[in-house]
This record gives sequence, C-alpha cells and structure tokens, in this order.
Amino acid sequence: MNERLEEVKAQVEAALDAAMADLPSGDLADAMRYACVGGKKLRAFLVMESARLHGVSDEAALPVAVAVEALHAYSLVHDDLPAMDNDDLRRGMPTVHVQWSEATAILAGDALQSLAFRLLTDPAIGDAEARLRLITAFAAAVGGQGMVHGQMLDIAAEDSPTPLDMKGITRLQAAKTGALIGFSAEAGALIAGEEGQALRDYAADLGLAFQIQDDILDVTGDEDTIGKRVGKDAEAGKATFVSLMGLEKARNCASDLTERAAKALSSYGAEADNLRELTRFVIDRQS
Ligand code: IPE
Ligand code: IPE
Ligand code: MG
Ligand code: MG
Ligand code: MG
Repeated sequence: MNERLEEVKAQVEAALDAAMADLPSGDLADAMRYACVGGKKLRAFLVMESARLHGVSDEAALPVAVAVEALHAYSLVHDDLPAMDNDDLRRGMPTVHVQWSEATAILAGDALQSLAFRLLTDPAIGDAEARLRLITAFAAAVGGQGMVHGQMLDIAAEDSPTPLDMKGITRLQAAKTGALIGFSAEAGALIAGEEGQALRDYAADLGLAFQIQDDILDVTGDEDTIGKRVGKDAEAGKATFVSLMGLEKARNCASDLTERAAKALSSYGAEADNLRELTRFVIDRQS
C-alpha cells in the first residue's frame, strides 16, 4: 500500500503542476502551487483505489484525484488563516498567509476551489453524465452542507459556553473531514455509475478514525514530524474527540472504527486490500 501511495502522490503532484501551468505568473500562481506541495495525498489515494475497484482506469480517475487535493489544499489554506485557526506552519513550511499575505491566501484558496471544479469537467473522466454526477456530489461534500458547514460548526463551538457532546462532535467531524473523504472513497463508483454504499460505509468510519487521530496528534504529535503546530486545539478551547474522551478512549475508539471500516469492504475481493490497509495507516500515522 505504501508504494501505491507514493506512486499516487507523484502522479497527483505532477498533474497539479500541469493543471496550473497556464496561470498568469505572479504571487497568486506561486501561492496556489505552494499550497499543493507535500501532504499525504490520502484523499487522492482513496479516489484512485476506489476507481480500481470499479474498473475505472487511472487516466480517468486522475483528474478527480487532483480535484480533491486542490480542494483540500484550499481548505487548509483557509483553515490556517488568522480568522480561523491562526496557524503559521503547514506541511513543514510557513503557511500561505505568512509566506505572502492574508489577501493572497484568501485568493489562492478561492482559485484552488475553482480549479477543483474545473478539473471535474475533464472529458478524460467519462461521459457528461458521469462528470455531472461527480460535480453534484462534490459540491454537496465541500460546500454549505459539507466541509464548509463543518468548519463553521468547529469555529462556532470555540465560542460556545456549552461544549459539544459526542453527538455534536461526531456531526461536526462528519461534515468537516468526513464529507470530502466520503466523496473521495465513493468517487470510483460515481464515475462508473455503480452502487457506492459499501464505500460510503467504509469512508464514514475511516473519516471519523482519521479525525480522531488528527485530534490525538494535536496532543501527542511531534511538530517536526507532523509539520504543523501542536497543542492548538486545547489552546483554542476546541472540543475534540480527545478533549471529550481522553487519549486512551480516543485511541480505542479509532481502532474499533478502523476494524469496522475494513469490514464494510467485505463485498470486494483482494483488489480492496490497499483500502483495507489504509485503515491501519490512518491510525498509526504520526503525520
Ligand atoms: C489535515 O488533513 C486536515 C484535516 C482534515 C484533519 P491531512 O492530514 O490529510 O493533511 P495533509 O494533506 O496530509 O497535509
Ligand atoms: C481542518 O481541521 C479540516 C479542514 C476542513 C481543513 P483541523 O483544523 O483540525 O486541521 P489541522 O489540524 O489544522 O490540519
Ligand atoms: Mg480547523
Ligand atoms: Mg487547523
Ligand atoms: Mg487538527
């Protein structure tokens, strides 16, 4: 699985460069490219592997994987802004607003989001119906009922006098992190026009385990390894799985979720092994 992840990472980074080759040169283009460098490219991996499960070629799936990572990069640039999490380190480098300016970071994020949608119109993906299915699902996953909604709940919870309970934080996570992970995992089925329920079930548990590990790493992580600041959630008074359950319970919960995620793939054969292995990767990761 690790080899395949590296392969996808290289493919996606090259394709991101190509997708941004026609941008007018200047700070905006530089900031957009900078924001896309590094990271695990885990969502792209989900797209490529779910595509394989549904008989979709790498060539057809790649623009979707690239779109997902462009969108994810935008979400991180905005997440790090002073008005949001106010972070100065991302993927081991200064955040975009530190390297350039807040205005540049806002605009680079905006343009990366537009780029993501444009990528989903690529005829290499499939017929117009397949692309429309993807765009519709993508919009739901990343907008006011998906990622942005989750980010809003996250920010609102910081100022709320009553901390979120388990139900509230699970709902927040499902939108903030889960929706884009869900889209990525289902992408192969969406392109093929096939049933994606098993992949949706897998992603729901995987996404939750992923966010729990993100919250754990904010407490236990090493800044150099993780490439972002740690201890920020507690400092901001964020309700996280760790603040709610404590470290040990959070770890157990993430572990249970990954086992259930792997089981959701029982209808697939050995070709789903990479996705099964990814469940361990998500909770063992240190970055
Ligand atoms: C970080 O995502 C933000 C969350 C949604 C928790 P990743 O941990 O996937 O970040 P990169 O892309 O590898 O940097
Ligand atoms: C951000 O969640 C999720 C996004 C939609 C970008 P976090 O704020 O926990 O992500 P990190 O810890 O800064 O990567
Ligand atoms: Mg945040
Ligand atoms: Mg953050
Ligand atoms: Mg975090």
